[in-house]
Amino acid sequence: MIKKGIILAGGAGSRMSPVTKAVNKQLLPLYDKPLFFYPLSVLMLAKIKDILIIVNKGQVEQFKKVLPNGNSLGIKITYAEQEKPKGLPDAFLVGEKFIHKSSVALILGDNFFFGQSLTKKLIECTNLSKGAKILLHTVKNPSLYGVASINKKKKVISIVEKPKRITSNLAVTGLYFFDNKVINYSKSLKQSKRKEIEIVDLLNKYRSKNELSAEIIGRGGTWLDTGSIEDFNNTSNFVATIENRQGFKIGCIEEIALNNKWINKNQIKKAINFYGNCDYSKYLNSIISK
Ligand code: TTP
Repeated sequence: MIKKGIILAGGAGSRMSPVTKAVNKQLLPLYDKPLFFYPLSVLMLAKIKDILIIVNKGQVEQFKKVLPNGNSLGIKITYAEQEKPKGLPDAFLVGEKFIHKSSVALILGDNFFFGQSLTKKLIECTNLSKGAKILLHTVKNPSLYGVASINKKKKVISIVEKPKRITSNLAVTGLYFFDNKVINYSKSLKQSKRKEIEIVDLLNKYRSKNELSAEIIGRGGTWLDTGSIEDFNNTSNFVATIENRQGFKIGCIEEIALNNKWINKNQIKKAINFYGNCDYSKYLNSIISK
């Protein structure tokens, strides 16, 4: 069982400059809550209670203003700083002590997932005992993504970054599950041409040992980008559309904690006090008034 998770929430955010010049992208509002609430929700839906959030140098205090620690959610949250954006597998070097001898999930701080059987799928993924698992989602334009081909047993046969010749339309999403070998494998990675260590190289280490499997998020599920201003805005509008139609919030971390029985109504009341008079608090109030 995977019980630890990392949210990689640093990054240059260069595509969203100038808005990311002073503020970490993951603190920006995706509709009605900071972007990082969404990946945090995903880990919580996977029943992961021990979470490391990696941010850029000097940004821990800003994050703590929104989420000081995990007490309000009945979970453990630790923060760490990444010296600079050195590549996605750097999460396992920064997080080495946190991971210790465990297996671990990694979610990118700017990834958005939504869909009906998502929770079930997530929990299945945490059953991983050996090797690594990735989540794939069909995209119209695979040449913009890392793309995987799989066999009938859902073993990954190949992964290609931004392919020119399209062999698969299954994009590799920013949610991964690894056994403890991930630390040593990450240490052995060499920098690529763009001077980063690459997640594809890490995944290929598992693949070459036939230890990389995949789950597919079907068309009833959604995986959206938030990397560019356009994507960020589209995903924000998606959240607004669903929330305003249904009256349910996406990525409400206190609601998930309550549903998981990690907190009680009193802790929701404290959260309402903390957030103050806002729509988010009104929603929290509606949950406990049912
Ligand atoms: P990217 O999309 O590679 O980069 P970015 O979000 O900084 O944006 P841009 O390309 O516009 O500069 O990163 C994906 C996610 O991973 C994002 O949430 C930032 C995070 N990240 C880190 O925290 N550390 C890193 O070293 C890298 C490469 C990314």
